[in-house]
Amino acid sequence: MDEWWRRAVVYQVYPRSFADATGDGIGDLAGLRARLGYLRELGVDAVWLSPWYVSPFADGGYDVADYRDIDPRVGTLAEAEEFFAEAHALGIRVLLDIVPNHCSEQHPWFQAALRAGPGAPERAHFHFRPGRGEHGELPPNDWRSHFGGPAWTRVVEPDGCPGEWYLHLFAPEQPDWNWAHEAVRAEFDSILRFWFDRGVDGFRVDVADSLDKPAALPDQLGAPLGQEPFRDNEGNHDIYRRWRRIADSYPDPRVFVGELWLTGVPERLARYLRPDELHTAFDFDLLAAAWDAAEFRTVIDRSLRAHAAVGAPPTWVLSNHDVHRPVTRYGRADTRFDRLLLGTPTDLALGTARARAALLVTAFLPGVLYLYQGEELGLPEVEDIPDELVEDPMFHRTGGVNRGRDGCRVPLPWSGDEPPFGFSPPDAHASPWLPQPAAWKALTVRVQSADADSPLSLYRRALRLRRDLLVAAGPELEWLPAPPGVLAARRSRPGPPGPSATTGVAGSAGAAGLEAVVLVVNMSARPVPMPDGRVLLASAGFPVAGFLPPDTAVWLST
Ligand code: GLC
Repeated sequence: MDEWWRRAVVYQVYPRSFADATGDGIGDLAGLRARLGYLRELGVDAVWLSPWYVSPFADGGYDVADYRDIDPRVGTLAEAEEFFAEAHALGIRVLLDIVPNHCSEQHPWFQAALRAGPGAPERAHFHFRPGRGEHGELPPNDWRSHFGGPAWTRVVEPDGCPGEWYLHLFAPEQPDWNWAHEAVRAEFDSILRFWFDRGVDGFRVDVADSLDKPAALPDQLGAPLGQEPFRDNEGNHDIYRRWRRIADSYPDPRVFVGELWLTGVPERLARYLRPDELHTAFDFDLLAAAWDAAEFRTVIDRSLRAHAAVGAPPTWVLSNHDVHRPVTRYGRADTRFDRLLLGTPTDLALGTARARAALLVTAFLPGVLYLYQGEELGLPEVEDIPDELVEDPMFHRTGGVNRGRDGCRVPLPWSGDEPPFGFSPPDAHASPWLPQPAAWKALTVRVQSADADSPLSLYRRALRLRRDLLVAAGPELEWLPAPPGVLAARRSRPGPPGPSATTGVAGSAGAAGLEAVVLVVNMSARPVPMPDGRVLLASAGFPVAGFLPPDTAVWLST
């Protein structure tokens, strides 16, 4: 069976911000279908679409009101089916985003639970509890919402009086499902099948670490991020074993990639990737790491080791719809990912150089590579969205202390000299849902396609070389000696077609026919001598021959 998912390049589409064909300022399925050729040319194996389901968009679609239909602003189910067929015809697989931790307050099951009142069986699909305090006026425990404020909201009961509270790890508009309830499990089995039956190749699993809650819902008592009582509970594994059985009941592989923020504990992450659970899970440690050779190497090594122990491929990701764009991150004095650094000074030229070099690191590593739309254009985080236009609940629930995630969700610039930069059609009746910076006229797909040195051209070349040279290489990565601040590594690949010394068979990968690709990335502040080898690809030019400049990476053939 073709295990394409072990080495795929997957491109994340944030549908609202990819391409708008209907002119309402919101990206849609028709826009995406019209741009499939762009994704093919980029060289991706699959797309992952952030949620497109019917939703009030309280959290940009991560508040799902109907898991079996598409929001009318994005498209229709009929269009979705055409999209699957078109993508498949181009050799692009499709992953959707399943949101199992919570739904929308508009979901019919939650509405029924509200109507039914305390003690009713409908309430058991969610986490309803009486409040603490003399009159139940305090939340049932001390859990905090990831978006700020308590993780509980009190409801007004059908009799008009304040009553029980319900749990929401995110916004109040996102009530948490009770995964201890068999009906909830069965419902999600059926949702998975609904989309698998329509040809979907897999799912990214939202908030995959928090489904199973401890029955007593104990206080978190200041537990640090990652160790809260709602995270990484043993019952999660049963859920994914059940899902894996469903995926495996289809003839072609149907796969999962989990979103689990278990940072710093790759062994815990890898437990989700045992052979009968999820196929892959994002490694956020590299995304969170500073631009520092020793830190990169530590994270990469730990991840490779932890994944090898369960036979799963690591999954590298530097960017997604929740984090500051790498170009901005890597240009700051503090290059780690930290939400509170938004708006601090950044050197975009430096950040761009590093982000280009970082691609040559992640695209080189064994395993799966995820890209987030706009990353290939080197888009920076938009840090000056006017308050009144910010939609992210993270902004609103922290009183603006945390400016949220809209800055990486600004609609893509495709062409032209001014907004909407081809994101919407010329006769659009609305502006893009978030404003695009005027400076993006230099970053459009059209401009970058005509420039051999643009980020887009680099991404295209890197993905092509990765496919031609690295995909067939084994999962091993061999570190080579390198000066401080520099990483050098080798991956071996089968040689070009021709008789192999060991077998005499054309194109075989006999040991003597092996060739190697070497990565060198200079994360130090000084130029370093270039190792021997033919340059296959470089993230920047070499002003001094024979030396690799700072913040530059290169692939060499040796
Ligand atoms: C995940 C998503 C994020 C969303 C949250 C709640 O972390 O990536 O965008 O807000 O879950 O669904």
